[in-house]
Amino acid sequence: MPRTPKKEKSAAPRAAAATDRPPAGASAPAREEFNRPNVSFDNRLRPVTFDDFVGQEKVRDRLLLSVQAAKQRGDALDHVLLSGPPGLGKTTLCYILAREMGVKVHATSGPVIEKPSDLAGMLTGLDRGDILFIDEIHRMQTAVEEYLYSAMEDYVLDIMIDQGPNARSIRLELPRFTLVGATTRQGLLSAPLRSRFSINARLDYYTPEELALVVKRSAGILGVEIDAAGAREIAGRSRGTARVANNLLRRVRDFAQVRAGNRITAEVADEALGMEGIDRAGLDEMDKRILSCICEDFGGGPVGLGTIAVSVGEEAGTIEDVYEPYLIQEGYIARTFRGREATPLAFKALGLGTVSKRGQPTLGI
Ligand SMILES: Nc1ncnc2c1ncn2[C@@H]1O[C@H](COP(=O)(O)OP(=O)(O)OP(=O)(O)O)[C@@H](O)[C@H]1O
Ligand SMILES: [Mg+2]
Repeated sequence: MPRTPKKEKSAAPRAAAATDRPPAGASAPAREEFNRPNVSFDNRLRPVTFDDFVGQEKVRDRLLLSVQAAKQRGDALDHVLLSGPPGLGKTTLCYILAREMGVKVHATSGPVIEKPSDLAGMLTGLDRGDILFIDEIHRMQTAVEEYLYSAMEDYVLDIMIDQGPNARSIRLELPRFTLVGATTRQGLLSAPLRSRFSINARLDYYTPEELALVVKRSAGILGVEIDAAGAREIAGRSRGTARVANNLLRRVRDFAQVRAGNRITAEVADEALGMEGIDRAGLDEMDKRILSCICEDFGGGPVGLGTIAVSVGEEAGTIEDVYEPYLIQEGYIARTFRGREATPLAFKALGLGTVSKRGQPTLGI
């Protein structure tokens, strides 16, 4: 997961643990937060109910309906596939589902399940109704994946024991459980696996208004004061992503705490994020490399996805599923049948004039 700031997730508690006293003048909630170094930053800000979960209305409504229906029937929730770019709330939704259903989550991830026996161990440890959460499910081995088919459909697991002439298959009955799969690359899931999820929910980028709500809520939890304009300023630079919004808030909070009386306004946010070198549009390093490849190396395109991939050193599929959707949605690039083309907005974002198809720079966009 190139974009996933996995390291970021634990950065806050480690930093907090480095000194053993809260900063002088810290508010009561900030002090309390400081004193809980073992709770990861990501976890504390994670919404725990559907009411706390901002945006993604269609997905939320569908999941809520399925939860209510399953509870009425006294049955396990149907299997759920959550897909979408990193940091939009897939893991969060899985834990909300478990809480609403009143069941436990057994979490693992695709690459960790190396052998069918690993999967068998997890499945046989489930209680009725429990959720098995498989993150990065697109990275699961085919040999393991095939065992999931009968487990998901018929709640049985046929496993081979012994080898050679003594080999025989035994059938294990499984409790009715719910598989929640999360993936940033839905396109890599095999058709048989995808078709076994009866609820297929795709998360989209958040609007700046939704992210402003995320920022306000998180600021409340972190005990820092923020006004509407301050929240909007952070939201606008968060690349449509809740995790980025929370991470930027953390940067701005540090600045506000030390230099601005623990109060975030638009000016404070602007200064803090400027200091961090965060783009006004919120584009990250890889976004800029992709745009720069199309605009500067290929005169605005069109250029094929494979060529961009080689040039920026990233997998074509990851560019297509993780980076490109945001750049297209925001109008930086267009996908044409001849390849990817940059728009004038892309040139502007890079501080360049537009370039004609013949490679002649033109000014005044
Ligand atoms: N709808 C939301 N409302 C408020 N906060 C959110 C929402 N969605 C996500 N977040 C915040 O963003 C953080 C990242 O979300 P989460 O870990 O669920 O993303 P993810 O889709 O699982 O990402 P990845 O693909 O990297 O695993 C959460 O800790 C939470 O604080
Ligand atoms: Mg996740």
